[in-house]
Amino acid sequence: MHVVVTSDVDAYAADLLVGKWDSIRVLGLATGSTPVNVYGRLIQRYYDGTISFRSKRTFNLDEYLGLAPNHPQSYRATMVRELMQYVDLPDDRFHVPPGISDDYDAACTAYEDDIRAAGGVDLWVLGVGVDGHIAFNEVGSAGASRTRVVGLAASTVAANAKYFDDPDEMPTQAITAGVATIMDAREVLLLAKGDAKANAIAKAVCGDETADTPASWLQGHGNCTFVLDRAAAAGIISLVGADATEASGATGRVHSLEMLG
Ligand code: GLP
Repeated sequence: MHVVVTSDVDAYAADLLVGKWDSIRVLGLATGSTPVNVYGRLIQRYYDGTISFRSKRTFNLDEYLGLAPNHPQSYRATMVRELMQYVDLPDDRFHVPPGISDDYDAACTAYEDDIRAAGGVDLWVLGVGVDGHIAFNEVGSAGASRTRVVGLAASTVAANAKYFDDPDEMPTQAITAGVATIMDAREVLLLAKGDAKANAIAKAVCGDETADTPASWLQGHGNCTFVLDRAAAAGIISLVGADATEASGATGRVHSLEMLG
């Protein structure tokens, strides 16, 4: 696992994506507030002609159960609002798990099949919850978990209800790519900002690989980078020291710790 600490997570992540754009055929995406400005930067790079989405395919991590695709708070509608409406990704190349289905088990299997048929995800952009959840893989999610229907933790419901006009409309279940689905991606880029994430990040990076902190499963991924601002990295920094430039073997399975400006 590589850890980069930077004052500008958005710029770092967007530059990294644009830098390897031609090698990304299939891009994994996340919702949540963290990647929104990265998407904004990608839109700018699309407008200035640097990148195109025309030949890309995207897979989102998750969707609220019971929300129609056009519900404003569905993750599909959110992605359209934050990215897809501005770029040239063909509709049939934009994948989000279905919030409504006659057969959720079949829908979960189909989502895994679609990812496989696309050749797998080249790079998956992730955020992280304050308790260390990734996608909607809540605390307790096994490393072998696949796309499935899950119940949301009370803390997740509380954190996300603010996006709904009526907080009671906030679903308590979701359909999510599993930990193993994410681990299959050839590269993972996890973004975190702010001190509310510091504890989860410290446990994910420096603690045991455990279902208690689902993001910790990423320690077992061979090509995973955590891009953090100083606040989100505070727990790691207190363990390895603020001047560390190379913390190989110092903490868990961290292979490099880069402290940028
Ligand atoms: C939700 C999403 C996650 C996201 C998390 C954190 O639970 N399912 O994919 O990482 O929120 O969101 P934020 O980036 O707003 O802190």
